[in-house]
Amino acid sequence: MNEPVRPLPRPLVILISGTGSNMQAIVRAAQAQRWRERFGAFVAAVISNRPDAKGLAWAAGQGVPTAVVDHTVYPSREAFDTALAEAIGRYDPHGRALVLLAGFMRILTPGFVQRYAGRLLNIHPSLLPAFPGLHTHRRAIEAGCRFAGATVHQVTAELDHGPILEQAVVPILPGDTPEALAARVLTQEHLIYPRAIERWLREAGA
Ligand code: GRF
Repeated sequence: MNEPVRPLPRPLVILISGTGSNMQAIVRAAQAQRWRERFGAFVAAVISNRPDAKGLAWAAGQGVPTAVVDHTVYPSREAFDTALAEAIGRYDPHGRALVLLAGFMRILTPGFVQRYAGRLLNIHPSLLPAFPGLHTHRRAIEAGCRFAGATVHQVTAELDHGPILEQAVVPILPGDTPEALAARVLTQEHLIYPRAIERWLREAGA
């Protein structure tokens, strides 16, 4: 009888800068949805540009390898991105890792983005292409929008503008503060990011 074809290993490397609630949702989904058996995919590392990122302790508590590439110790954006790519490489021996920006608050250089073209995803807290950049919830409220949301997209050299994989729409309620809206959007982020990754893994094949 033919042995079932085992998928090639697909490391998932998650980049964070803070709480890492999206990272936590991804770690949980990888386990609950059996990504390793189904796609050979596993969370290989959580890497942060900030040594004090709370998500690092949570990931370590889950037995996930962690690393810090502190952007404040590098003289340029290019030098930081080079060090970041070297750190990712330590968990990606075959150059197949899916790199996931999850609350990662750094703008990456075109060279870094090109290196991971097609396997670099991000989650942004707005309905792109509306409201790229920062303070998305305050801007949506001030613009009188009726809806806000979140987007998972491929990362390209142009900030917050790559091909869209998943979106979630969230109503803006009368009297909403940016904080209340952010919390409502975040619960949807935790659903659409794992959904986008699972679809990417399925479409990427073995
Ligand atoms: C989230 O709103 C996410 O969309 C943005 O960073 C915020 C915090 O994310 N990129 P997390 O809790 O650190 O995952």
